[in-house]
This record gives sequence, structure tokens and C-alpha cells, in this order.
Amino acid sequence: MATFRLYTLFFLCSVFFFSLQSHSEEDTPITRFQRYLRINTAHPNPNYTAPISFLVDQARSLGLTTRTIEFVKGKPLLILTWLGSNPKLPSILFNSHLDSVPAEADKWLHPPFSAHRTDDGRIYARGAQDDKCIGVQYLEAIKNLKSRGFSPLRNVHVSYVPEEEIGGFDGMEMFAVSSEFKELNVGFTIDEGQASRGDEYRVFYGERTPWSLDIRAEGIPGHGAKLYDNGATENLMKSVELIAKFRETQFDMVKAGKAAYSEIISINPVYLKAGTPSTNGFVMNMQPSVAEAGYDIRLPPMADPDVFKKRIDEEWAPSIRNMSYSILERGKLKDHLGRLIMTSIDDSNPWWSIFKQAVEATGGKLAKPEILASTTDARYIRTLGVPVLGFSPMINTPILVHDHNEFLKDTVFMKGIEVYESIINALSSFEGGSDQVN
Ligand SMILES: *[C@@H]1O[C@H](CO)[C@@H](O)[C@H](O)[C@H]1NC(C)=O
Ligand SMILES: *[C@@H]1O[C@H](CO)[C@@H](O)[C@H](O)[C@H]1NC(C)=O
Ligand SMILES: [Zn+2]
Repeated sequence: MATFRLYTLFFLCSVFFFSLQSHSEEDTPITRFQRYLRINTAHPNPNYTAPISFLVDQARSLGLTTRTIEFVKGKPLLILTWLGSNPKLPSILFNSHLDSVPAEADKWLHPPFSAHRTDDGRIYARGAQDDKCIGVQYLEAIKNLKSRGFSPLRNVHVSYVPEEEIGGFDGMEMFAVSSEFKELNVGFTIDEGQASRGDEYRVFYGERTPWSLDIRAEGIPGHGAKLYDNGATENLMKSVELIAKFRETQFDMVKAGKAAYSEIISINPVYLKAGTPSTNGFVMNMQPSVAEAGYDIRLPPMADPDVFKKRIDEEWAPSIRNMSYSILERGKLKDHLGRLIMTSIDDSNPWWSIFKQAVEATGGKLAKPEILASTTDARYIRTLGVPVLGFSPMINTPILVHDHNEFLKDTVFMKGIEVYESIINALSSFEGGSDQVN
């Protein structure tokens, strides 16, 4: 009889508990991820107040210190800190961005800010991969480490920055050169990466830098019927051919499988301009005195900008052929000490080995490190000479950054937390290398 009553009581309690749960959403890593995803931070009008208040709540519940900075009004960034036992050592920074690109809701299976979770565990939302997953995983990993009694040797900082998707000019670019950043004494940074279709994690150690090149040839004008040497178009065409040959040698390396797309220099013509076209039977029989061409160039970090400029100066737009040029460098290739802007991925960089071992300790495997074809905020930190790896732990996942139906599977998200636990644990416990190593 007594047993029966106990069972009844247990049953009633379960029903009561269950009905409570269904009324107020449970609080789990997945539901916290969903809550973060439901905050619309898409351009052109990202709401930065809402995600920051969400993150500050989370951080406070974990006992992290929080600091909000506004370099530009209405564009705040948030820094969370877990103090280490030796705060004098260079710290570890985990970065993510608050904003996302827009989403065309009518092209999606589920509304892009619903964070709908399907029966097979797919969580659909703009930002699910890029990069709200890592923003929440950092915190969940810290939570788990804390609950296991772990305490870091080095300070661990987590930053959430605005405006990455539109160039980071009012976000990380300003933060990286600020006194606030300097105070953090960052020795190593992890920033966003990309999903991997296979079962090896992708990791990025550099990015390509875009340049725009305009070349211009001058020559004596002449009658359309006259044959003479060194006209403007002739001089320009010599360069166009040389550049086309160079482009071919680069592209051939990709076609032959000797280099990845992002490891070669790409140079593509984006405009050609010379002369006056014939119109309405009105024939222009004058050879032009000016001819121009414009190129989009993407330089991988190992490309030496000085060597490349010399090539332009001596071969592609030499003054001896009456040519001139201008370059718009939309990014730097060398830091203030003249070093190429990429992170070492060999034994000279102790952070690399620690990172690699930490990922492997979770049963994961890293793919061959890559150069990212696009750009992220990581470039602003690498420019300071601080080593940065781009890493988002998503394997067996289609690459859906900026695409319709961006999603991440719950199991992949949960595994990522475990991977960051291992990474944070290992990096923040590293005793050596008190100097910054690039
Ligand atoms: C941003 O979101 C918060 C919380 O949902 C809301 O109170 C606020 O009005 C929003 N701000 C703007 C500018 O939409
Ligand atoms: C450059 O311009 C000068 C002056 O017009 C001309 O004498 C010379 O032949 C030109 N050289 C070339 C290579 O176009
Ligand atoms: Zn991103």
C-alpha cells in the first residue's frame, strides 16, 4: 500500500514537473543557443542592445566580469573575462561577431530568426554557423570547466564585436588598436572559421588581402589609318598580355592541384577603357592617346607585397613604356615590424601545437590548415603580430554561411562545446612562452 502511494506521488510529481517544463522553456545549452539565434542582429539594422544584454546575463551567471565599450555610438562591443591565477601572463582571446548578414525569409524552410529545431536536430537560423554558434559555445565551455572546478592560469577573454559583416571598421578595427585591447595583453586568439563537409575540422591561419590596380598607358594619338609604334593601346595591350600570362601560371597551379584557390595570387580584369566607339554610322578613326585597365587582385598572406609591386613597376606598368599605375591596398600584407601577416602553423608557434593537441584530445582531427578565401576580423589582430587561428568546430556540416536555410545540428553544436572545453583548458594552462609569438 505504502509503495503504491509512493508511486502515485511520484507519478503526480512527474506530471506536474512535465507540465511546468512545457510552459516555460527549459534552460539547456541548446535552448540558450536558440535564444541567442532568435535575436535579430542582421544588417542593415542589427539590434546590438538585445544580444549584449543576453550575453551579459549569461556571463554574470558564470561569474565572469563584463565590460561594454562603444567606439562608435550604437555599436557596442562586449568583453568578458575569466581571471587566471597568473594574470601577468599573456592572455587568450576568443572572439566572435554579434552581427549577421540579412536573410530572405521567403526562401527559407523555417523563419530565419525562429531557430526552429527539426526532429533530426537541425537548428535553422541566420547566424547558426556564422557565427552565433561559437559565441554561445565559448560560454558553455567555460560553464562546464567551472563546474568541474577548473581554474585557468592565464586570463581568458571572450569578445563580441559589432559590424564584422560590413568590414569591422566600427568594430574590431577600432578595438584592435585601442588601449583597451592593449590592456588585455593578448598572446593568442581564436576567431571564427568555417564548417567542414567531411569529418576533419578546418582551421585557418591567414586570409587573402584585396588590392585594386589601375594601369594607364599614354601615347601619341594618330589617324586610324596610320601605322606607328608605341601607341597607347599597343603599350597597354603588352601589359594586358603579360598580366594574362601571370594569371594563367597562377591558375594552372590550382588546376594541377598544386595549390589551393586561396593560396595563389588571383588577378582579374574588371575594366578596360580606351578610345571612342563609333555610333550611328559616325566612324571614329582616331587612335586614342590614353588606354586604361583595372584589375581586382587577391594576395595570399605569403605573397611579398614588395616583390609584387616591383613586378607592376617594372613589367606591367613601366614608365619606359609611358605607363603609370595606382594601387588601392584594401588591406595590409605586412605588420609594423615588416612581417607577413599570417600565423605560424609549425613548432615555432607553441600555441599551434597546444591547439592541435587539444582538438585531438576530443577525438577530433584537423584538416590541412588553410588560408581563408574571404576576410574576417582576424586580420586586424594578426596585423598586431598576435597569432590568430580561425576555427569553428563544425564537421559533417554543409557550408551555409550567408546562404538560405543556414542550420547547425544540435549534436554538432554540443560536440563543439566539448572541443572548446579542451582548447580553453589547454591554452589557458600553458605556462611557457611569456613573450608574444607569431
Ligand atoms: C532591441 O531589442 C530590445 C530587446 O528585444 C528592444 O527592447 C529594443 O527596442 C530593440 N532596439 C531597437 C532599436 O530595435
Ligand atoms: C613615350 O613617350 C615619348 C614622348 O611622347 C615617345 O617619344 C616615346 O616613343 C614613347 N615610348 C614608348 C615606349 O611608348
Ligand atoms: Zn562570420
